[in-house]
This record gives sequence, structure tokens and C-alpha cells, in this order.
Amino acid sequence: MYLCARKFLKLHIMDFKQEIARRRTFAIISHPDAGKTTLTEKLLLFGGAIHVAGAVKSNKIKKTAVSDWMEIEKQRGISVATSVMGFDYNNHKITILDTPGHQDFAEDTFRTLTAVDSVIIVVDAAKGVEAQTRKLMQVCRMRRTPVMIFINKMDREGRDPFDLLDELEAELGIGVRPLSWPINHGKRFKGVYNIYEKRLNLFTPNKQTVSESIAFNNVNDPDLENFIGEDAIRLRLELDLIQGVYDPFDRQKYLAAEIAPVFFGSALNNFGVRELLDCFIHIAPPPLPAQADERLIDPTEEAFTGFIFKIHANMDPNHRSCIAFVKICSGRFERHVNYRHIRLNKQMKFSSPTAFMAQRKETVEEAFAGDIIGLPDTGNFRIGDTLTAGEELHFKGLPSFSPEMFKYIENADPMKTKQLQKGIDQLMGEGVAQLFIHQNSGRKIIGTVGQLQFEVIEYRLLHEYGAQCRWQPLSLYKACWIESDDNDELTRFISRKHASLAKDKNGRDVFLAESPYLLQMAQNDFKHIRFHFASEF
Ligand code: G4P
Repeated sequence: MYLCARKFLKLHIMDFKQEIARRRTFAIISHPDAGKTTLTEKLLLFGGAIHVAGAVKSNKIKKTAVSDWMEIEKQRGISVATSVMGFDYNNHKITILDTPGHQDFAEDTFRTLTAVDSVIIVVDAAKGVEAQTRKLMQVCRMRRTPVMIFINKMDREGRDPFDLLDELEAELGIGVRPLSWPINHGKRFKGVYNIYEKRLNLFTPNKQTVSESIAFNNVNDPDLENFIGEDAIRLRLELDLIQGVYDPFDRQKYLAAEIAPVFFGSALNNFGVRELLDCFIHIAPPPLPAQADERLIDPTEEAFTGFIFKIHANMDPNHRSCIAFVKICSGRFERHVNYRHIRLNKQMKFSSPTAFMAQRKETVEEAFAGDIIGLPDTGNFRIGDTLTAGEELHFKGLPSFSPEMFKYIENADPMKTKQLQKGIDQLMGEGVAQLFIHQNSGRKIIGTVGQLQFEVIEYRLLHEYGAQCRWQPLSLYKACWIESDDNDELTRFISRKHASLAKDKNGRDVFLAESPYLLQMAQNDFKHIRFHFASEF
């Protein structure tokens, strides 16, 4: 009775829809070293989630040698604590999803991007758009994820801001709209003019405190000279130019992923970060509808739905325990309530679902659409699994990209065949790498983004499953998912290229191209076959 009354009261105190509308779940992405960790830390400082700078450990795995395994394991441990960070700010519930810094784990980042409603990209002002940024943006574009850009390290000598904007547009394939503008850079960096709020923010290098901010509606006011001296003339000219060149900021275009608002600042000096955050909570989308194979699911639907986008294993190597990260797509999730695991068609309830607030993991009674929760697991979940209150649904969109490196995996200990099979199966389910089965030989091929993943697999097979593997070299250029509306041509292709065909984990046909030349030949010879470098098309 007491419980019922409490529940009833709770429901009314905080309207369900309002709870969802105040959520902002996003990822910060960048090329390594652009300042993602530093920016994350400063955002957490504003949210009161941490109190001193330096509290967030970088989850970068800097060393890649096998001998650094313990170090990697330690760092993997750290990254669990920081992979989801929640805090309250101005009556919004902010959740930041961290992504691995090391590019060998790029696939993990791609999957994390399926669980966010928007993204902040950090760009180094001196380096501009770098390889990893380009690749990550490709995923954002595929999913039409709204993007904001923070141009960092303005305290260092950087590039001309107009050049940077041009480069962002050209390289990232998205329109840009500056919402703040730097006043010089490097040693002469004086601050930024916040176009969005019409304020002048003066820069004082300091890692802990917030900069001085002055309301400045009209930059033609001669008072501007008193603050920034002769830079005032240039600032006025540049702001005029921005007015002339760029359309006024249109939130709908940002939400439609056509325009990325751009901010300038210095994360290390905590400069320009509050402006970014304040604008972010105003314009960034609340939880968005999610597409399942069956239908579009609105976050405000009452029935709970969600999907697993990340599995963090090895929490305790002796028990092979994992945490499955669930993005809640709709409704309310409750502790001790039965939910349906669609792939296994099994009812499951969870006694200790965790939320990640202020870097702490804590057991929660309930969670709402937009939230990320962690479910302790001992092998029931795979990446992409759907959980619902009962409805048969399959959430779409956990893309796999063509790996960059391929090796045959073989059993090095015939007594442990079963263990190896189980280990490979579970590690692939976790999304550590991709498995392809070669059609001609039936041999197993593991595809990765980088060498480090092979080391991870070998190490974990041995330590968690007691299995030993051996790698055989395989020189491939790309794995392409193939499809065609022309069945005859597809049949001809399959019989002609049989030696280069494999099946992915879902049994789909994949063409293993040995070189760019052979891929092009295949594309020329079979015009009605589409070759995709990603599994989602
Ligand atoms: P990442 O997560 O994107 O890989 O980058 P991270 O934040 O770790 O930053 C990379 C380096 O850039 C760090 O220096 C960091 O201090 C520095 N940095 C970040 N923001 C700014 C900025 O606004 N201005 C300047 N000048 N530097 C910035 P490091 O020497 O690699 O590491 P650390 O020893 O300082 O931790």
C-alpha cells in the first residue's frame, strides 16, 4: 500500500514526459590529443560532478606493446568508470558518453554513437580536421546526428578561423555557423565574442576558474576598445563578414544535421566551455525517436524499450562478469521488473541496474528514455540486443565497418577446441572484432581496426577461456557487404568469386577484396552489385 502510494506520488511530482524532455545524452569525439578528455573534465566541473581539475583520467591507451598488457588492463578498468558520466546542470540531466581514444578501438566509438542524440566534436585549432574526426563524422552523417563543434587550444598559435571553418565544411561535409568568434589566438589571444549570447568573454589563462564575461549587445560601441584595444576593429569587420557569409543560426537545420554551430575556446584554460554548455542545453535535442525494424519508437511511449550498444567485459576476470550498457529508447525502466530479451525470447529482471552519476556507479530503482544504464551480465547479452516490456522489436543501426586488418584464427591447443569456440563467440558478441567465415574453406577470419585488437583477443582467450589461438597472415584490402536487385547477376558473382566470399556474423554475403584494383575490377564487371564498406546501408 505504502509502495503504491509512493509510486503514485512520484509519478505526479515529476511528469514522465518532462523527465524525458530534460535529458541530453551526447558523446564528445575527436582525433586523439585534440582535447576531448580535457573538455569532458571541464564540463563535469560545471556540473559539479567533480570538484578539481585532473579528476578524470584519460582513457587513452598510449602504449601498444604486448608487454604493456597490465597497463592496458588497468586503463580499461579506468575507462569503465568514465565511459558514461551523468550530471545535473540547470535542470537538465546531462549524460556524456566517452569514447576510446585509441584508434584501434574505433569500432567501439562507432557503436557508442548509436546511443547518443547529439555529438560535440573537438578540433585542434592548429591541426584542423584530422583523420579520426573525418571517420567519426562519417558515422554522424549516416545517422543524421546533430553536431556541435568546439575549436580548442585557441591559447596556442593556430590557423585562421575562416580557413578552419572552410576546412570543416569541406572535410566534414556539413555546413557550419560560428556562434562565437575568437579575438586573435596564441599569445595574443584576448577571448571570444559570444555571438549566441551577445557577450564578450575575456581570456585569462587559468585552469581552474571561469573567465570574465561582459554583456555586449552592440560591438560598434566604442567601449569595446577599452577591453580589447585595437583588436576591436578587426573583430567588428570579422563579425560583419560572418553576417554576410553565413545564414543566421537556424536550430532546425542543426537538428536536421545540416548545420553545425561552432564555438572557439581553450578547454585546458576552461575558456569558452560554459558558453558551449549553456548553448548546448538550449539547442541540443532531447531523446529522439529510435528506429526499429518494425516501427519508429517514440521516447515518450510508456512501455520500456532499449538496446545494448556496448559490453564491458572482464570486470572480474575470474567470473567472466560483464556490464551491458543499455540505451533506453522509450518509457521507464524499473528495477526487479520482468523485461523481454528479444533474441533469446526470455524474460529477465535485474536486481542491480546501475546508473552513472557523477562518475559513481549506483544502483537505481528506475531510469527513463535517454538514460544509459548498466546491467551486470554473465553472457546473456550481445551488442545490438533489444530489451522490451514485451513487444517484438529489433532496433536497427549498429553498424560494422570494413576492418582494416585481417587474420585467420586457428586453434593452438586441440584439447581446448570448445573453449576457443566459446571465447571467439562471446568476444565477437561483445564487439571486440569482426568474424567472417570464409566460404570455400570454412576457416575463421578475424577482422580488426588495428593490431592491438589481435593482442586483446589472444590475451583474453587465454586468460578468460583457457584457450590458445594462433594467427595466420591474410592480406586483404577491404571486406565489402554486397547486395543487388539483380538476382541473376548476384548468382553469377557468387559462383565467379567464390574463393573471395565470406559470411559475416549475421550470415550476410561479404566480398573479400585483396586489393583496390581487384575491387574496382569486380565493380566494373558487375555493375548491378552494390559494394558497401559498412554493414548498415
Ligand atoms: P584527447 O582526450 O582528445 O586525446 O586529448 P586530451 O584532453 O588528453 O588533451 C591532449 C593534450 O592537449 C593534453 O596535453 C592537454 O593538456 C592539451 N590541451 C587540451 N586542451 C588544451 C588547450 O585548450 N590549450 C592547450 N595549450 N593545450 C590543451 P598533454 O601534454 O598530452 O597531456 P597532459 O600531460 O597535459 O595531461
